[in-house]
Amino acid sequence: MDIKVNIEGLALDAGAIEKKRADASKSLDRLWSGSEDMTGWVQAPINVNEQELEFILNAADVVKHEADLFVVVGIGGSYLGAKAAIEALPKTESGTPVRFFGTNFCTDYYREVIAEMKSKKPILCVISKSGNTTEIRAAFDTLKPVMEEKYGSREEAAKRILAVTDEKDGSLRKEADENGYTTMVIPKNIGGRYSALTPAGLLPMAVSGIDIRELLGGAKDMATSPDWDDHGTDYAIARHLMQKQGKTMEVIAMCHSRLGYLGEWIKQLYGESEGKNGQGLWPATLTYSTDLHSMGQYIQQGRQNFFETVVSVDDPQYTITIPEGTLEGKTIEELNRAMTRGVINAHRGAGIPVAEIHIPKLDAYYYGQLLYFLETTCAVTAMLDGVNPFDQPGVEAYKAEMRKLLGI
Ligand code: PA5
Repeated sequence: MDIKVNIEGLALDAGAIEKKRADASKSLDRLWSGSEDMTGWVQAPINVNEQELEFILNAADVVKHEADLFVVVGIGGSYLGAKAAIEALPKTESGTPVRFFGTNFCTDYYREVIAEMKSKKPILCVISKSGNTTEIRAAFDTLKPVMEEKYGSREEAAKRILAVTDEKDGSLRKEADENGYTTMVIPKNIGGRYSALTPAGLLPMAVSGIDIRELLGGAKDMATSPDWDDHGTDYAIARHLMQKQGKTMEVIAMCHSRLGYLGEWIKQLYGESEGKNGQGLWPATLTYSTDLHSMGQYIQQGRQNFFETVVSVDDPQYTITIPEGTLEGKTIEELNRAMTRGVINAHRGAGIPVAEIHIPKLDAYYYGQLLYFLETTCAVTAMLDGVNPFDQPGVEAYKAEMRKLLGI
């Protein structure tokens, strides 16, 4: 376990943490038992299906050779895992630009993407486990005719459409089989927000040039790390205890500009998994130092209903030295470190509890470790809170209202 978490700055009582260890360990056992619903992600990194992985890599190669644009239609868990990784990670080989679509009902964005598709050689990928999400139906049904017009016929378009969905069920599966799209499977026992390491996340990542074998290797090493037995669940326990102390919000601050979308992924993971039965921490994500010049004031002196988790990358991999002026001779990383440490000191000085997460280096291997760590942390916190981390009954309410308004 190379991802380091320091919860000392939360000033929690050591005895209180110790008391929760047995419950946390029971939660881990439940996750690993294989008998709980929607826990397929837990053992997935250690049971990687080599044939399936080759299929993803081959499909990605075809896209890389044949297309100059990969349009991915997906929302929530069927988009954020890939988007966050593509924003965060260096590309180890050249890839095809990935454009995500279907994440809103914005006409301007529709026009922009349709125009881009018309001017390029696109391959279209639709990712939806259920196959009936309204955003996805609208987006896919709008873009299919664009593909048909572009490539001359329904059959030619179908050769350039991929569908990532359930193995058997749902309208997208039916449509994909009828039209002969290339398909990949999101396993039934893995929910959207836990699907970053399934084809839903891996295919777009591979198309963009990310080394997905390394990523899965990192997740596997995290899954099998012996550290879980000692302190792997400390952050999960701490998050649970901070709520007990009355904190209602966790401010997760990224001290690296490429981690902004990881914050969006975390918001979905934590928010959708934990916000139930009147419980859960509101996950608010910020990027430092940018947001210190906007939200920094609130953090320092506003309502103290939150604790903070500062996420930083230890090795920047590149060195840039400021050549002149008052900061001459200092490296940008030196400034970033000073900013990070300065902010932690200032916030602790104001009485804010601050935890730290350190990523050794921003590459696919450590990123894989981080994803697995955060997924497990989230599931354990939710179980300690007594809520089901894997359902989202509340999301249905707006969908039902929307369907009523549309008469569908
Ligand atoms: O985590 C979840 O289950 C959700 O966020 C889904 O991923 C999201 O609603 C998209 O669903 P689907 O893949 O069925 O289109």
